[in-house]
Amino acid sequence: MVTDRKMQPLPPPEHRRALRFVVYLAISLLAFSCWALVNSRISGAMPHSAVRLPDADKTTRPAALTGGEDPAAAGDSSTPAAVPAMSGAAANLTGPEQQPLAGGGERVERCDADAAALRVFVYDLPPEFHFGMLGWKGGKGKKKMTWPNVSDPLAVPHYPGGLNLQHSVAYWLTLDILSSSSGAGSDKGDRPCVAVRVTNASDADVFFVPFFASLSYNRHSKLRRGEKASRNRALQAELVKYLTRREEWRRSGGKDHLIVPHHPNSMMQARKPLSSAMFVLSDFGRYSPDVANLKKDVIAPYRHVVRSLADDESPDFDQRPVLAYFQGAIHRKAGGKVRQKLYGLLKDERDVHFMYGSVRQNGIRRATVGMSTSKFCLNIAGDTPSSNRLFDAIVSHCVPVIISDDIELPFEDVLDYSEFCVFVRAADAAKKGFLLRLLRGVSRDEWTRMWRRLKEVARHFEYQYPSRSGDAVQMIWGAVARKMHSVKLQLHKRGRFQRTGAES
Ligand SMILES: *[C@@H]1O[C@H](CO)[C@@H](O)[C@H](O)[C@H]1NC(C)=O
Ligand SMILES: *[C@@H]1O[C@H](CO)[C@@H](O)[C@H](O)[C@H]1NC(C)=O
Ligand SMILES: *[C@@H]1O[C@H](CO)[C@@H](O)[C@H](O)[C@H]1NC(C)=O
Repeated sequence: MVTDRKMQPLPPPEHRRALRFVVYLAISLLAFSCWALVNSRISGAMPHSAVRLPDADKTTRPAALTGGEDPAAAGDSSTPAAVPAMSGAAANLTGPEQQPLAGGGERVERCDADAAALRVFVYDLPPEFHFGMLGWKGGKGKKKMTWPNVSDPLAVPHYPGGLNLQHSVAYWLTLDILSSSSGAGSDKGDRPCVAVRVTNASDADVFFVPFFASLSYNRHSKLRRGEKASRNRALQAELVKYLTRREEWRRSGGKDHLIVPHHPNSMMQARKPLSSAMFVLSDFGRYSPDVANLKKDVIAPYRHVVRSLADDESPDFDQRPVLAYFQGAIHRKAGGKVRQKLYGLLKDERDVHFMYGSVRQNGIRRATVGMSTSKFCLNIAGDTPSSNRLFDAIVSHCVPVIISDDIELPFEDVLDYSEFCVFVRAADAAKKGFLLRLLRGVSRDEWTRMWRRLKEVARHFEYQYPSRSGDAVQMIWGAVARKMHSVKLQLHKRGRFQRTGAES
């Protein structure tokens, strides 16, 4: 026994040599694989850093301001959980490999007036018309500024959260166009090149009026003590005076001016005197056809209030137990009668969620869950033909069922909504059994096709800063650029006989 144990630790010399060789080999292999691993990481990172050096700071720069980061003001204590996931999913889209949309949205090394589809002159309105409403002070001390420094997305003034956000369109457009001209030494190589700010009015295709009209309505409609007119009215009056005196306005009669009264009640006083301009609106519900119409104006989406689903977290057909979802207010004015009718028809159906109460009362979080577990989301005309509900449905990948005969849809000249929405005439929807038969008759394959398309188009309805190719901001600039073609045609025709002065 003892000798055995003594014998073991001493193998013959040739065995010891073999053992040393094996150990040496193992260590070399380990060293080699470490080297290979490190090397592969470096080369894996190469494409990004090699192609565009300015992107190096991208990983450290928080990707986006998506407008949802004011949960305290959202009137819903449950939203904070939603925010990180949203920016996480958004951050993923920022990767340099993300391909921009074609059609003026090409990412080019230089984005200047020659490369862009739309050259935009921005009026330097005093801050009280825009960021001043967000508490921005317009610079400290002797150096008064008109615009905040937009270089750092996290340092720009925040828009109030909650339902205010729905109509924040002017804010996102203004931030984006300001960031297009950060000028010398700008690292804006990653900004989509659809619209670019020009400072010489004679280079401009369009004159942008940066008035946050919706926020002015939200915030300043009430008369305060000692005031004859509300601040909202006073600002509008001032704006009308300012614009109609400008040489740029007079030259075109205002036709090449862009104004953003997205809230249906915004600019009630100024809409008529400024009606020759191009408006960015949510719908035409509260406009007479001579003031606003599809020929001259652009429909823009509401900023959704529920959280956007990432592609890979979107429940599929079988994971959405609710057939149809509706959450909204009951007492609506003209055009909203079909809601009450449908309520009567649907309220007792087992797989239908039809509830009254605004998103605010019931919690944005609950609406997020409700829509993302439903196959179809109903958009029924309320007191205006449109609402943010449609855009909440789209970012929840819940197939919208649009029951609103007069609705106008954003970007419909480039998007075919029938690929991802179901349209039902109000008269049909009010027939007993019609809607349920229709929705139950949609096969899993058919539904899944629409769901896939929804996931593709959802990004066109996102407002964010910095803006990205194909998002709502870029889609709006694109729509404006397309509309400007016909405006230019009109203006040029009008100018035919300028030289000979033949006025008959
Ligand atoms: C980012 O996208 C990749 C696929 O392109 C996916 O695997 C990953 O989970 C995504 N990450 C986030 C945070 O969404
Ligand atoms: C704007 O902010 C950026 C970074 O925050 C800074 O580098 C730049 O100098 C600022 N520009 C002006 C004009 O203050
Ligand atoms: C603006 O552009 C026009 C035409 O290109 C030019 O004549 C004019 O001098 C420019 N104005 C300024 C201030 O640069």
